[in-house]
Amino acid sequence: MNSAADQHGALAELETCWHDVSLPDAWPDRLRWRRPRDFWQLLRKFLLRRVGRVELPRDLPLRVALPKYLLLEFHNLPNGNYSKKITQGYSTGFDRVMLGEMRRARRALAACFEGCRRVLDLGCGAGYSSQALVEAGVTEVVGLDASPYLLQHAARQFAAPRFVQGLAEDTRLPAGGFDGISACFLFHELPPRYARDALRECRRLLRPDGRLAILEPASEQFFGRPRALWRQYGWRGLYFWWLARFVNEPFADAWHRTEVPRWLAEAGFALVEDRDLFPARLIVAQRRDA
Ligand SMILES: C[S@@+](CC[C@H](N)C(=O)[O-])C[C@H]1O[C@@H](n2cnc3c(N)ncnc32)[C@H](O)[C@@H]1O
Repeated sequence: MNSAADQHGALAELETCWHDVSLPDAWPDRLRWRRPRDFWQLLRKFLLRRVGRVELPRDLPLRVALPKYLLLEFHNLPNGNYSKKITQGYSTGFDRVMLGEMRRARRALAACFEGCRRVLDLGCGAGYSSQALVEAGVTEVVGLDASPYLLQHAARQFAAPRFVQGLAEDTRLPAGGFDGISACFLFHELPPRYARDALRECRRLLRPDGRLAILEPASEQFFGRPRALWRQYGWRGLYFWWLARFVNEPFADAWHRTEVPRWLAEAGFALVEDRDLFPARLIVAQRRDA
C-alpha cells in the first residue's frame, strides 16, 4: 500500500466527519455550572486532585477501544479528555496554562518537517499542533487522537488537516505512508510499555529515512531545583516547576527518566537532535534502515 491514491483511500475509510458528528453528553456536560452543588463537583476534582476514572458514554463513536490507562482523569480534569464542555475549556486553557510558550514550541516542531509532503500528527488534541504543520507548509496533514471530543474541537477550528480517531500505539494506518511524524506533548502521557509500542508504530508508518519529531515538557521542570530554575528563568522557571507537580500526569516521571538515544535506537531510530526549548524539549530522529 504505497501509492498516494491507496493511502488516500485507506484514510478516507477511517475518517469521520468530526465537524458535524453528534457526540453524546458525558457527565460533566449534564451538570449545571450555576448550581452550587454541580459547580463544587467540578471544582473539587480540580482542586483536590483526586484522580478518578473516566466514564465513557455508551454511544461514543470510537474506531478503536480505549485502553485502561487512557481512562484516568489526566490533568485533574473532570472526566479527563472525554466531555464536550471540559475539553472545550482545555482546548484553549492548555496554551494559557503554558503561558503562551506552546505557539513558539509548536512552530519549532513544525519547522522540522521542511520538505515533507505528508505528516502525521500523533496525539493532535484540539488540532493546534496539526495546524502548525499546515502553516509550516506541509501539504497533507493527518491528525490522530484518542478523544472524539477533542477531534471535534480540532475539526471545527481547522479546516486543512484531516482528523482520525485512534491510538498512537496501534493506529491501523497503512505502513510507510508518511514522510514525517510529529508528536506534541504525547509521549509523557503514555505508560512506558505503550510509549515503546507507539515509537515502533511510528517506525512502521514512516517511509525509509522518514523523520520523527517529538516535543515534550522539559525535564528540568521535573528534576531541576527551584533555586536553579529561578536563577535561569526567573518566575517562569518557578511556575513551570510548580506546574509539573500540580498537574496529574501519572507517567511523566517514567518518561523523564527515559534514556532517549537508547530508547530511539531500540525502535530503529537514530537521534538527530535533542534541543532545550524550556519549558519544552525538542527531540528529532530519523528512521534507520541500515
Ligand atoms: C497534551 S495533549 C497535546 C495536544 C496537541 N498535540 C497540542 O499540541 O495541543 C495530548 C493529547 O494526546 C492524546 N493522547 C494521549 N494518549 C494517546 C494515545 N495513546 N493515542 C492517541 N492519542 C493520545 C490526548 O487525547 C491529548 O489530546
